[in-house]
Amino acid sequence: MDKDTPQKSRVVEEGIWVVGEALKKAPQLRGIPTGVEGLDELFFHAEIEGEKVIKKPLGGIPAYSVVNITGVSDTGKSLMVEQYAVKQAQRGERVAFITVESPAPFVSLGLKERANAMGVKFSQIENNIVLIDAASHSSLRDSIPNLLNTLAFAIKEYKVSHTIIDSITGLYEAKEMMARSVVRQVFNFMKKWYQTALLVSQKRSGHEELSAEAAGGYAVSHIVDCTMVLAKELIMTKTASQIYGKPVGEVVRLFRIDGCRLCGHDTKTRFLEIADTGLVKVGEPVSGG
Ligand SMILES: Nc1ncnc2c1ncn2[C@@H]1O[C@H](COP(=O)(O)OP(=O)(O)O)[C@@H](O)[C@H]1O
Ligand SMILES: [Mg+2]
Repeated sequence: MDKDTPQKSRVVEEGIWVVGEALKKAPQLRGIPTGVEGLDELFFHAEIEGEKVIKKPLGGIPAYSVVNITGVSDTGKSLMVEQYAVKQAQRGERVAFITVESPAPFVSLGLKERANAMGVKFSQIENNIVLIDAASHSSLRDSIPNLLNTLAFAIKEYKVSHTIIDSITGLYEAKEMMARSVVRQVFNFMKKWYQTALLVSQKRSGHEELSAEAAGGYAVSHIVDCTMVLAKELIMTKTASQIYGKPVGEVVRLFRIDGCRLCGHDTKTRFLEIADTGLVKVGEPVSGG
C-alpha cells in the first residue's frame, strides 16, 4: 500500500451491543464482605419497589470490581487488604496476593496476625491464599507480562477469584510515566479473568491528604472502578481539635470513598481506627463538633 494513502476504515460490528444483550453478559451486582468492620454498609444499589425507588445495602464492595486503596505510608492500607484476604479465605474463596514491597514470608506473618485478631484459625485459610512474591523477584516486578502470566497461571491452578496487589505503585517505581499503561494492563487483566481486585497505591505526602491522587498522577483512580482514600492527620490547631474532637498533638486517621462507578456509596469523611490488635475499622463520620 502507498504509505500516503490513509488506511481504509471499516465498521467494527463486533464492537456494537444492544444494551439488553450486553446486560445478559454482565455479572450480577452483589457485595463481597471485606472483613473490615464498618465498610460493608457503605455501598448501595437502587431497587424499584412498587412506585418507590429504595436504597439497598450491597453488604460489601461490588463483586468483580477493581478497587484502588490509596494513602500515604502507615495509614492502614496493608492491614485493610490483609483483612480482606483473610475474610475471603475464611469464606472458602481463593485469593492471589501479589506482594511487591514485603517478601512473602513477612506477608504470611501479617496474614496470620490478622487471622488471629479476626478469630480465624490459620489452618482454615492457609490453603486459600496464594502469595506471588514480586518483592523478591525482579523478574516479576519489572515485567508486567511475566507478572500477569504468572498470575493467570495461579488463577487457573488454584481457582482464584480475588487478587490483591500491594502495591501497584511498586510496579512503576522510578518510571511514573508508565503508570497509566501498567494500571490499564492490570485493570483489563482483572476484567478478563473475573477477579475482584484490590490495588494498593501509595500517595506521596506532598499530595493533598484526602485526594485520590496517587504517585504516578491520577492514572490509578481514573482507570479503576472504585477508589478509597486513607489519610492521617496530625492535629495542630484548635479548629482541627474541635472538628475531630481530639486534643492537639494527636493523630487522627480518616477514610473516604472517593468514587465507585459500579454502585452507590457513602460520601462522608469518616474516622478510621486501628485497634491494638492490628485491625482497621471504619468509624463514624467526622461531624465537626
Ligand atoms: N499488629 C499491629 N498491631 C497494632 N498496630 C498495628 C499493627 N500493624 C500495624 N499497625 C499500625 O497500623 C499502621 C498502618 O499499617 P499498614 O497497614 O502497614 O500501613 P500502610 O500499608 O498504609 O503503610 C502502622 O503504622 C501501625 O501504627
Ligand atoms: Mg503497606
